[in-house]
Amino acid sequence: MDAISITVNGKAHAVEVSPDTPLLWVLRDTLGLTGTKFGCGMALCGACTVHLDGEATRSCTTRISAVAGRSITTIEGLSPDGRHPVQTAWIVEQVAQCGYCQVGMIMTSASLLAKNPSPSDADIDEALSGHICRCGTYQRIRAAIHQAASKQPPAPAASKKSRTGGVR
Ligand code: FES
Ligand code: FES
Repeated sequence: MDAISITVNGKAHAVEVSPDTPLLWVLRDTLGLTGTKFGCGMALCGACTVHLDGEATRSCTTRISAVAGRSITTIEGLSPDGRHPVQTAWIVEQVAQCGYCQVGMIMTSASLLAKNPSPSDADIDEALSGHICRCGTYQRIRAAIHQAASKQPPAPAASKKSRTGGVR
């Protein structure tokens, strides 16, 4: 079995797994990065979300062969000290309940803010539409994203949109 080269959190790895192995399995079982969670295994819940070249991506349905040579970021590598603006805002807003969905929520939120530093509620709803939280933390998630956004440079000529409505 040929090794497949991937870069995870800035570190190069050569993993000897079947090419159709889900990226999530490699992260958790091969590399021991258990921050990323398994929820549905069918790209339906968002718990397994990581960044693939900066884009929020479901790792449960991404084959390892599809990410050879690419850069993956997990929650362990989102910031060097756990103080990414999204992580800090999550703590201030006390978002997490059971916590199981939260890593995926944070990874998608960080990806959203990297592209859109001042998202509206509608932007947040759209970005997180594929994420499920059984504990119902959606309102706190939205508040935390707005708080994290306030710590970033303002977007040029950003239009103000409604701050009402649901995250889902
Ligand atoms: S475990 Fe990947 S989307 Fe649910
Ligand atoms: S915090 Fe429990 S599932 Fe989201």
